[in-house]
Amino acid sequence: MLIRAFRSDDLAQILQLWEQTSAADAGGAGLEIEQAVRLLSDERAIVLVAESDGRLVGAALAAGSPVSAWIHRLSLLPGRPDEQAIVEGLLEELEARVAQAGIGTLAMVIGERERLAGYLRQRGYRSDDRRCFERELLPPTAPTGVLAELGGQVIGPGLWDELKGMEEAKEIIERRVILPLSESELAARHRVVPPRAIVLFGPPGTGKTTFAKGIASRLGWPFVEVLPAELAGEGAERQAKLLADAFGRILELASAVVFVDEVEDLAASRHEDRRVTPSITNEFLKQVPRLRGAPHHLLVCATNWVARLDPAFLRPGRFDYVLPVGPPNADARRPIWRRYVEEITDEPVDLEGLVRASELFTPADIEFAARKAAQRAFEREHFEGSGHRARTDDFLAAIEDTKPTLTAEMVSSFDDDTNRFARF
Ligand SMILES: Nc1ncnc2c1ncn2[C@@H]1O[C@H](COP(=O)(O)OP(=O)(O)O)[C@@H](O)[C@H]1O
Ligand SMILES: [Mg+2]
Repeated sequence: MLIRAFRSDDLAQILQLWEQTSAADAGGAGLEIEQAVRLLSDERAIVLVAESDGRLVGAALAAGSPVSAWIHRLSLLPGRPDEQAIVEGLLEELEARVAQAGIGTLAMVIGERERLAGYLRQRGYRSDDRRCFERELLPPTAPTGVLAELGGQVIGPGLWDELKGMEEAKEIIERRVILPLSESELAARHRVVPPRAIVLFGPPGTGKTTFAKGIASRLGWPFVEVLPAELAGEGAERQAKLLADAFGRILELASAVVFVDEVEDLAASRHEDRRVTPSITNEFLKQVPRLRGAPHHLLVCATNWVARLDPAFLRPGRFDYVLPVGPPNADARRPIWRRYVEEITDEPVDLEGLVRASELFTPADIEFAARKAAQRAFEREHFEGSGHRARTDDFLAAIEDTKPTLTAEMVSSFDDDTNRFARF
């Protein structure tokens, strides 16, 4: 499925779609069909379509004032098994464009459409009367002030949903980390203490960095990465001071997800495996409790080598949870493939074949191979003039051509690590 802006040659199809969807399907301020058609060609409107196999399977029509935008029509071809994905794709793109335009809320009036209400709630839309749903959008503004100085970023609300498969890791993080922080009153009522610091471990390319950004995206907190190993050139005294200053600046932010990647550089049990001087490690260990004292700051450390960490480093007083982000099995690879295949092509693709052929692939390897297949189809069209997008054999050739990151030993040592170190 492809989400894209409406083009004038979609007109016949969009009219047909509106006809096929019942009147109740036309949400919002009850636009007559003539009004909707007029809005289609208005510069101020945002019109998106979802296309699958060359056919329109969904459309969204929105327009707004400087303070809020309204979805006037959200139409879905009846009987599609991927209905929810179509709604999410359309909403995500709409939200991004509305936020881009500096508009702070996106709203929609729905009739008696319970399923749609469910999708809207899942995406964070709220309703007082179960008819009018509304979501506040974060401005996509470039980071300013302290955040910009720290090289931090504001991550849009869509990233969490971009993480496909990996349901186990997502669910643990959702329940243990995101919910207690986002539902802090309910958590307090049950004396659930929200986490202040967590460790993510797993082989390279399994999505640890993306998960850390996803947490920031779900919480709506800015994301700041700290790179202690970059201080290595400075003198020992100065290193410690620079690191302490960086954390001081971070604490000036109202909230933040603070990310430290490759934390074994700081805390390997063998000192010769560390890439920083003891003064940096000591300063970092001093800063963790400082950060733990800040309720709207979450420290996320990531490592490919949890077994190399000093066991004392992982102690519960320092890190609330030690969470595995593991290699994707076939069930996890399938949605990851689907995500990239749908982006790259509208040709039929044997997804199961790709899933089977990509054992020992990480999500990063899958993304890499998928992009390679796209490149292959692009080159073919350029040099040979063939008119079709990537097909199964392009993906299979790209898989053949991609060296998987994982080995059977890595998978089994990850399982051992999970037994030994995971805590949640
Ligand atoms: N679950 C996933 N679904 C889709 N793409 C993913 C997923 N996890 C990771 N990726 C992609 O793989 C790449 C590498 O992921 P990353 O988070 O950097 O892995 P890690 O930090 O564990 O090495 C990123 O480009 C990301 O978009
Ligand atoms: Mg990473």
